Amino acid sequence: MSTNVQQLFPGVYRVGGKLATKNFAPGFRVYGEKLVSVDNVEYRQWDLFRSKLAGAIAKGLSHMPIGPGSLVLYLGASTGTTPSHVSDIVGEDGAVFAIEFAQRSMRDLLNICQPRPNMLPIFGDARMPVQYEEHLQGQKADVLYQDVAQPDQAEILVRNADMFLKKGGYAMLCIKSQSIDVTQDPKKTYAQTIAKLEAGGFETLQTIILDPYDKDHMFWMGKKKN
Ligand SMILES: C[S@@+](CC[C@H](N)C(=O)[O-])C[C@H]1O[C@@H](n2cnc3c(N)ncnc32)[C@H](O)[C@@H]1O
Repeated sequence: MSTNVQQLFPGVYRVGGKLATKNFAPGFRVYGEKLVSVDNVEYRQWDLFRSKLAGAIAKGLSHMPIGPGSLVLYLGASTGTTPSHVSDIVGEDGAVFAIEFAQRSMRDLLNICQPRPNMLPIFGDARMPVQYEEHLQGQKADVLYQDVAQPDQAEILVRNADMFLKKGGYAMLCIKSQSIDVTQDPKKTYAQTIAKLEAGGFETLQTIILDPYDKDHMFWMGKKKN
């Protein structure tokens, strides 16, 4: 009996009951994930506990703005776990500009990007978007994805959106309450962060508490108004 494949969003699947993306670099694993072939298509299982985007999808993300052909600016790419799935989703007509400022993570990121021509690893600080402006060559992103675990997460997102996100474009932010204020009730931290994002030109579309996949994290999705 063949494995059941169900499409959840364009480029995002449930394969044999598990979240997965089509492997854009067949034969390559990024973080030890399982590869599953069905009808000559190779899928990569997407670990809900290792990727906040996967956790958000599992917890009911209502709209998925990242799809085939999207241009994504990804801030906080680390060693490429989630960015590689984003690369699978956007496919050959899309692009992922993956920004990371830790040298150690950057080494792994460079390796995982090698067989993925749609991913551009960029060594840069998300607080200083002018550092990577030249790489975008005037292009605007359809989606800004940010997972940087910094106290000024909202300010970083707004600053990047002002420079690189299309009007009507989408932003996805993993809000880590413990990085903003460890002493405060996470609910208050989330509310303050969302207020800053809305003051910065966004309409909030959805918020998802990522527990049990990630503790003290909220996944926020918004749309840029202007
Ligand atoms: C939680 S990890 C990201 C995990 C990754 N998004 C994933 O799901 O596979 C946060 C990353 O953000 C990076 N980071 C933090 N502040 C940054 C900044 N200002 N500019 C660029 N990267 C930053 C850290 O070095 C770390 O690799």
